[in-house]
Amino acid sequence: MTVTEALLWVALPYVATVIFIGGHIWRYRRDQFGWTCRSTQILENRLLAPGSILFHYGTLAAIGGHALGILVPASLTAFFGITEAYYHIISAGAGTVASIAVLAGLIILIYRRATVRRVWVTTTWLDIAAYTALTVVILLGVWDTVVTNTFGGGYDYRSTVAEWFRSLLIFQPKPSLMTNVPFMYRIHVTLAWLLYAVWPFTRLVHAWSAPFQYLGRPYILYRRRFAPSGRFQIGARR
Ligand code: HEM
Repeated sequence: MTVTEALLWVALPYVATVIFIGGHIWRYRRDQFGWTCRSTQILENRLLAPGSILFHYGTLAAIGGHALGILVPASLTAFFGITEAYYHIISAGAGTVASIAVLAGLIILIYRRATVRRVWVTTTWLDIAAYTALTVVILLGVWDTVVTNTFGGGYDYRSTVAEWFRSLLIFQPKPSLMTNVPFMYRIHVTLAWLLYAVWPFTRLVHAWSAPFQYLGRPYILYRRRFAPSGRFQIGARR
């Protein structure tokens, strides 16, 4: 194993993960009031609505694709009768649809931030850093899926990138699996770790605070003006 391999495919993932976990704990303890997506919906909603929906649903689809392609071993899908050729069609097709949604959403959101003045003035340097890191990682991922896998010769990342990733999870890293991976895949993965390292210090923390309770909650909550007899209620006549 060369020094570069050890740094990129062993040290970087573990260091980034420690910063990711430690950074979230630090941020939660020090800055709970700042734990927000810093929404600008009140300033502009016409572009935000389609941009945000495309970006977030596209991202959810891409996360699902990553979980299936990277965490599930090829031997398991083969056991259920899914051949490599069949898997390739599904992953390239679904990955391309997810890519189009994420990219379209991202373009709308960046265009909105850059052109709507009152949104732009709320933008900090940290936001610009987060947007840049996200954009580069996403563009590279989309390149891998659409250019290499769907319209190019195809690449079986499950026998290299995915096995390497799972080797990290069980603390038996196999960096040599990454040696011959195409350059654009290697740079996507490397920059993804750097993104994880800055994640806790940006507005991206809102990803862990999705308000799922809103799905089952009515828009308006009605409360009684007068308490049922016998109970004390502040402000009620007695
Ligand atoms: C270390 C973590 C990551 C690994 C190992 C990884 C690996 C991969 C691989 C192998 C592909 C190509 C799939 C194909 O050829 O069809 C891909 C695609 C993609 N990646 Fe990642 N990725 C990681 C993190 C991320 C992050 C953090 C983001 C977003 C911020 C991201 C966004 C994307 C997108 C948008 C695509 C294209 C759509 C798709 O195939 O789902 N990836 N990634």
